[in-house]
Amino acid sequence: MVSYIDAVSAPLKNTGAIRLYTTEDFAGMRKASQLTARCLDELASLVKPGVTTNALDRFVFEFGMDNGALPATLGYRGYKYSVCTSLNHVVCHGMPDDKPLREGDVVNIDVTYILDGWYGDSSRMYPVGQIKRAAERLLEVTHECLMRGIAAVRPGARIGAIGEAIQTYAEAQRCSVVRDFCGHGVGQIFHDTPNILHYGRADEGPEMREGMIFTIEPMINLGKPHVKVLSDGWTAVTRDRSLSAQYEHAVGVTATGCEIFTLSPGGLDRPGLPPLQG
Ligand code: MF3
Ligand code: CO
Ligand code: CO
Repeated sequence: MVSYIDAVSAPLKNTGAIRLYTTEDFAGMRKASQLTARCLDELASLVKPGVTTNALDRFVFEFGMDNGALPATLGYRGYKYSVCTSLNHVVCHGMPDDKPLREGDVVNIDVTYILDGWYGDSSRMYPVGQIKRAAERLLEVTHECLMRGIAAVRPGARIGAIGEAIQTYAEAQRCSVVRDFCGHGVGQIFHDTPNILHYGRADEGPEMREGMIFTIEPMINLGKPHVKVLSDGWTAVTRDRSLSAQYEHAVGVTATGCEIFTLSPGGLDRPGLPPLQG
């Protein structure tokens, strides 16, 4: 059973009902998301060999402060950083540290700013210097998974259509889809209903409706899909230590499809990869 609730009348906690946001709400979400996208654009020129993820964490904090926004992860369930930095075989929730990035690394940088009460949540992969062809291919496949998932968003379709589109493409490319983490409703709450699975079938899950806002954030591995969380309680890694990648957008369901709130204003949705044609 799924129910729906107007965002304005909903209490600011997760009640199990899927919120439907208004046009004005979409404007708030667009503003927060574009701040996050601008930060991710800036990070593209900062990521290089020798830079530490602590330095990137400081940048994300300062950029937020300079723009009147708070990093949502800071103090979230005891997390102590302004950003997640997930390197190579780290699937997600990697914590910034003082180890310099090295040529050939790939790092996911996941930023969420709270601006005027709205949560802008997005992440991209950043190659560090020259990377191996296998790594570049994984990044391309993972970004394509995200965009195929987004292409499945429209009112009337079920949320399972997103997962089916992602899983079908990832597995056809001999990659695997992580099951342990999913996308989520977002808006005036960081992690809200519904869960957005990155695998499954088009006839599963709740029906999408105009006004819903959620993230799509597939984690795709070169090896097996299995994940373990390290003893720090946060860092999720591939069990087989194979390379993992993730891109994340926040989208709002419109009458005909969706709006991508977190698109790069600078054309840097896939930093370090050759531009897409079309
Ligand atoms: N931004 C992540 C997401 O996409 C959540 C990070 S929560 C943290 O949902 F506590 F790990 F930072
Ligand atoms: Co998210
Ligand atoms: Co995120």
